[in-house]
Amino acid sequence: MNLAELNKVALAMVAPGKGILAADESSGTIKKRFDAIGVESTEDARRDYREMLFRSTEAMKNHISGVILYDETIWQKAKDGTPLVEIIKKSGAIPGIKVDEGTKPLPFAPGELVTIGLDKLADRLPKYFEQGARFAKWRAVIDVGAGIPSYNCIKANAHALARYAALCQAAQIVPIVEPEVLMDGGHDIDRCFEVTEKVLKVVFNELFDAHVQLEGMVLKPNMVVPGKKSAKRASVEQVAEQTVTALKICVPALVAGIAFLSGGQSDEDATAHLDAMNKIGNLPWPLTFSYGRALQHAPQTTWKGKSENVAAAQRAFSHRAKMNGLAALGQWKADLEKKAA
Ligand code: 13P
Repeated sequence: MNLAELNKVALAMVAPGKGILAADESSGTIKKRFDAIGVESTEDARRDYREMLFRSTEAMKNHISGVILYDETIWQKAKDGTPLVEIIKKSGAIPGIKVDEGTKPLPFAPGELVTIGLDKLADRLPKYFEQGARFAKWRAVIDVGAGIPSYNCIKANAHALARYAALCQAAQIVPIVEPEVLMDGGHDIDRCFEVTEKVLKVVFNELFDAHVQLEGMVLKPNMVVPGKKSAKRASVEQVAEQTVTALKICVPALVAGIAFLSGGQSDEDATAHLDAMNKIGNLPWPLTFSYGRALQHAPQTTWKGKSENVAAAQRAFSHRAKMNGLAALGQWKADLEKKAA
């Protein structure tokens, strides 16, 4: 392992004013997204859609540091035969790869899931490196509800994250460590804080035990927000303060950077929350975005699978990337959204 090189890549992933495009939806998830816009999810349609994003020069050059790909995409070629990975690299962004293999029910833990995919990971990583991937992602999901999450679930998922992260570093790939506390439930923001704190504590204990080098990783956490079904809403400032507090308690300063998931927040909420955290300032790590839905919702609904909509969809993507780039600097303003609308 060359830690200086890992650290260089990790810092590039969280470079000032830039963030990560999570375009690594599994075939099942992208089908759901395409169903919503009336597009059949064929291999070519998935290629065309992602090629459109990666060819959005303004967004990719100025606001996107890296792209997380799904296995299918990392081997795919654009319509003109150029590998998609080459298009990403040419824009200056770093290709990354989702390496977990989804979730399975955790035995004796009703309603809880554990992320799988460790068995052949050591063999798969060098192939991804050769194909151009310099970072990877593994997502653990922690649901909040009556009596859950259990310690069993938190521990099993944290242990898998740490084993994955160590394997990545040994293969000279920067791990994105993503323990996602879901915002699906009816819990309030205080409960989200409590669960997020517990999960991050256990994750960093496991990372320590697995000898993961913090300078060579990026953390991808949820923000501390109320569950979607909670009647008790939280202000932008509350979300920012509680999230920053949870991170300060749990995340060592040596971690190269933090790139949030959007988790089902509206596009503008995800931007406003990130911006408010960066306005607090004086933090030991760069805070940026690694959004899937909050970057892609606008281009997807503009594109609708039609080639005549490509330019408008690319503008929609560039706008969200720019807004989030500004939020990563704490320089976003709500009226920048209105001007674009
Ligand atoms: P969302 O921003 O849509 O939550 O996706 C980010 C991601 O990569 C989830 O694993």
